Parts: sequence; structure tokens; C-alpha cells
Amino acid sequence: MTQRTVVVVGGTGLAGRAVVEEALRRGDRVRAVSRHVPPAARQVVGAEYVAADALAPDAPDLLRAAFDGADTVVDTVNGQTPAAAKVLTAGAASIALAARDAGVGLTVVLSILNVDRGTAVGYYRTKLAQERVHQAGAVPSTVVRAAQFHDFFDTFFGSPTLTGALTRVGTVPYLRGGRFQPIDVTDVARAVVDAAQGPDATVDGDVRDEGEPGRRTISVAGPEEIAAADLARLWADAHGSRRIPVGVPLPGWGPFFASGAAVAPDARYGRVTYADWLARTAEASPA
Ligand SMILES: NC(=O)c1ccc[n+]([C@@H]2O[C@H](COP(=O)([O-])OP(=O)(O)OC[C@H]3O[C@@H](n4cnc5c(N)ncnc54)[C@H](OP(=O)(O)O)[C@@H]3O)[C@@H](O)[C@H]2O)c1
Repeated sequence: MTQRTVVVVGGTGLAGRAVVEEALRRGDRVRAVSRHVPPAARQVVGAEYVAADALAPDAPDLLRAAFDGADTVVDTVNGQTPAAAKVLTAGAASIALAARDAGVGLTVVLSILNVDRGTAVGYYRTKLAQERVHQAGAVPSTVVRAAQFHDFFDTFFGSPTLTGALTRVGTVPYLRGGRFQPIDVTDVARAVVDAAQGPDATVDGDVRDEGEPGRRTISVAGPEEIAAADLARLWADAHGSRRIPVGVPLPGWGPFFASGAAVAPDARYGRVTYADWLARTAEASPA
């Protein structure tokens, strides 16, 4: 079998790096594209790194060169602030255009489980727009919608920037009423790399598979549904933290996560549980 070439735009990010590692493990030739090439010590051995800004005025040309010889382009870029989030829309348009011009056979875009049920949240509207840009493009496209990554919860439970005041008063703040089915990025990467094999590739496991080859949406979530309160307790135990889990309302995102939209019993694809992930990553917390 000839070796496939996979280009991962955003390949230096959390999910992108996992996709790079998984594709290399399967024997693909892999190129990671992002604005900054990481120092050698932080590169995945065997991957090629290319610097290109998907928002630069000449982005379609830069990206077309970066996509040279690619069978599949995977879009795992991210931007959280309104200015940075343009990479999800204007950036996606340049990626789709460059993929067409480079003769790429398939784009795969990483999105969010049930994102179409979260349109009250600006970021989710942007993610939906990103999906549509790829699916309206000339190149066949597969969307992989993933549940929240295990890492996502550190932003709330441990982050001094987002929930600083609450963590300082001795709590582990969690979203009151929230229900999740978190997934490990290594499981997300398996699904993305399966999907990257072709428009009608088999994604091996318990997934929701909608649409048709070329305009397909695959949804994946973790192995267990778990209440936000239990996630916070597991987090505090694993970190040896004496802070007390306390449920708080979360403006904007709260209704989505409390409505059951963040779980998918028909897409129990992931193998790694939150407890498994904590056992691997948690470090003792000072408080
Ligand atoms: N976190 C979750 O729980 C979750 C769940 C489901 C889906 N997702 C989706 O997964 C995707 C990846 O998320 P992540 O957390 O892995 O993101 P991340 O760690 O923030 O990585 C973002 C990547 O995009 C690159 N990038 C940003 N702006 C760029 C630009 N203008 N041009 C080229 N590259 C650019 C970054 O590298 P440089 O900064 O060097 O450019 C980096 O490689 C997102 O679209 C997110 O919506 C996340």
C-alpha cells in the first residue's frame, strides 16, 4: 500500500498534536501546519513542521504550498477570542480553497458534539460556520464532532484566570446541573485518523454517522456519562486538593451543558475514562 500524506493544520495544538502522533503511528507521512514551528524538543519525531498563518493575506497561497502532495487535510485550528476565532471561519475558507487548488482528496474538520444545539453560544455558532465552510467547499469533507476533552475541565477546576476568585475561596467550581461524556484526545485522534482515510472510511467503534460520503458528520464521545459534580470530586481527589466542589451557574454555556446536549449515548466511542486520565496527568495541588 502506498504511504498516505496527511497535513494537520493546527497540528501543534492539543488535539492536533494527538492527530499527528496517531497518523504517524499508522504509517502516514505527516505535516503539521501552524503559525509557529515548535522547538525541536517539542516536535513529534517523524513529523514535518511548516509555518503558515491561515489568516495572513496570502494564506491560500501559503497553505496550498503546505498541502502539496496531501491526500487529506485535517483542520484542528482554534481561536477563543473573537479576533482569534476568525481562524475558524476566514481561516477555514482559505484552507478549503487551498485544499481544492492543491488537489487534496478530503478535508476533515474537528468540531464539537451536538454543536448545532448550542447556537445560543457565540463560539458554537462560529464552529457551526466552520463546518459549513468545509462542507460547502469543492473538496469532499468529513466533520468529526467530539465531546469535551478531559483537559477541558482543568480550565474550570484548576484555572486561576477563569475561576480565580472561586478557587481562592477554597472551592472547586463546577457547572451546576452539568452532564458530560468527556473524551480523551487520543480517542478523538483515533476517530479523526480513521475518518481521514477517505470520504467513506470506516470509523471503528460506537459512533453516530450522519450524512453521505463527501458531506459526512461523525460524532464521538467518551465511555461514560458523568455529572459535573462527580467530575469535580474526582478532580479534587486526584489532585489531593482540600478545596470543596461547589456548583455554580455558568452564563451562556450553562444551558447547553445542563440540557444533555453534551452527552451522546449512541456515540460511546472513547476508551479512556476521566479517572484514567486523571491517574495519568494529575499532580498534587497546593490547595
Ligand atoms: N477542547 C475541547 O474540549 C474540544 C472539544 C471538541 C472539539 N474541540 C475543537 O478542537 C479544535 C482544536 O482545539 P485545541 O484545544 O486542540 O486547540 P489548541 O490547543 O488551541 O490548538 C490550536 C492550534 O491552531 C493553531 N492556530 C491558531 N491560529 C492559527 C492561524 N491563524 N493559522 C494557523 N494555525 C493557527 C495553533 O498554533 P499557532 O498558535 O502556532 O498558530 C495550534 O496549533 C478546536 O476547533 C475546538 O473547537 C475542542
